[in-house]
This record gives sequence, structure tokens and C-alpha cells, in this order.
Amino acid sequence: MIGIFDSGVGGLTVYKEVRRRLPRAEVVYLADRGNAPYGNRSLVEVGAIASACTTHLLDVGASTVVVACNTASAAALHPLRAEFPGVPFVGMEPALKPAAAMTRSGVVGVLATAATFQGELFASLLDRYAAGLEVITQACAGWAEMVEAGIVEGEVATQEVDRYLSPVLDRGADTLVLGCTHYPFLESTIAAIAGPQRPIIDPAAAVAAQVERVATDPGDNGRTTVHATGDPTRTKAIVSKLTGLDLEVEAVTLPMNG
Ligand code: DGL
Repeated sequence: MIGIFDSGVGGLTVYKEVRRRLPRAEVVYLADRGNAPYGNRSLVEVGAIASACTTHLLDVGASTVVVACNTASAAALHPLRAEFPGVPFVGMEPALKPAAAMTRSGVVGVLATAATFQGELFASLLDRYAAGLEVITQACAGWAEMVEAGIVEGEVATQEVDRYLSPVLDRGADTLVLGCTHYPFLESTIAAIAGPQRPIIDPAAAVAAQVERVATDPGDNGRTTVHATGDPTRTKAIVSKLTGLDLEVEAVTLPMNG
């Protein structure tokens, strides 16, 4: 069984790609909306939450864990591997490597939560891939919450996206990296402002390929179960609105919350 977690529905952008690659796998998706948003928390807090999410997924039978959240990956991917040795983990990182290959202006815009930019993971990405590039890091406060509220297009979404995207475009970014798993839901709004000539990079497909490579015992019943902290009815409604999927949602409590 493959366990996937995020602070909410953002990781479903990864889930969809995992499902495309592994149609027969058994998947449990944990939407930790009770602790969302992660992006405004300290890395230490997010680390403790990520450990509790992982414990929950392993308790219900997952044998591979996908951290479908850039913030949790930045805070906790290395500590999780140390805490749960033997469990294959797949995490997210802003896709700077492909962006470096695509940019013509040499200016790349990375859109993510504030916490994602604070971790060592992002610093090491800059070390590895940003030589000779200007990387504009833009924390997009409120975007994940907006997606959780089901607002992904229209006047409010356009205004909120424009607030953080326009300064990045004004500085010459010609390639945009979606460094938060909630942001692909805003892609059409982002693209409408950025214009068709600027590539927008979502690493979900590459992450799913990695899941296929490392997953041990993915199962073969093709079942997806959604577990949610917070209000399960609300989660079911938002999952259906954003993905069109009619998935049963079960309310759960994480070990850290008693
Ligand atoms: N989806 C998450 C990420 O990739 C976190 C958003 C949030 O909870 O702030 O960063």
C-alpha cells in the first residue's frame, strides 16, 4: 500500500499522477486539514506533524510514504528517513533543475510557501542548480488556503495570484516553478497572467515516476481511501470539487493529537 500525505488537497495533484502510473496500487491519502496550513508554521512544528502523519500511514498498512507536500519535505524528509529506516520515502522539491534547462532569460521564479524556502533542502537545490541563474523566490501567502476553500479561478483567485506573480514577472522571470503541491490547481489562473510563452513546471509526474521506481508492495486492488483530520464532510466536498473524484473520506486523529 502506498501512503500519501499533505496538509490538505494539494497532494492530490501528485496522487493523480501516481494513480495514472500505478492503476492497480492500493493508496491511502491523508489530508491533514486539521493542521493546515503548514506553510506558516516553523520547520520544527511541521517536522513533528510530518512524523505523526507518517506514523498514521504506516499504522494503517502503508509500506511506501509519499510526502506530497513541499513544505513537509523541506522540514522533514531527511529526519523522516532517519526516524523510519527501511521505509521508502518520496518527497517533493521545487523543480529548479528542469527550470535551469528551460530558461532563456536566466531568471527563474519559484512559487512556494515561506517555510519551503527556509529549509536546507532549498539551499542545497540552489547550490546544485542555480549557478549563473537569478532565482526569484516568492512566498505566496494565502494561495494554499484559497485552494482549500475551492477558489481556483475567477476574480478573487486572479487578484490573489496577481499579487505575488506580477512582481516575479516584472523582474524578468520567463520560467515558473510550482513549489507547492496546491498550486497546480491554480495553473490556469497563473498561466492567464503569465502568458503562453512562459513554461510552468509542476514536478508531480516526475515524482510519480519515482514512486513507481521505489514502491515496495504497492498492492493490486486499485483502491483509494482518503483519511482526513478536521471536518471529513468538508474534505469530501473539496476533493470532489477540485478533482471530480467521488472518494469516501474517513475522519482520523493523528497520534500527536491524542
Ligand atoms: N501543499 C503544501 C506544499 O506543498 C503545503 C501548503 C500549506 O499547507 O501551506 O507546500
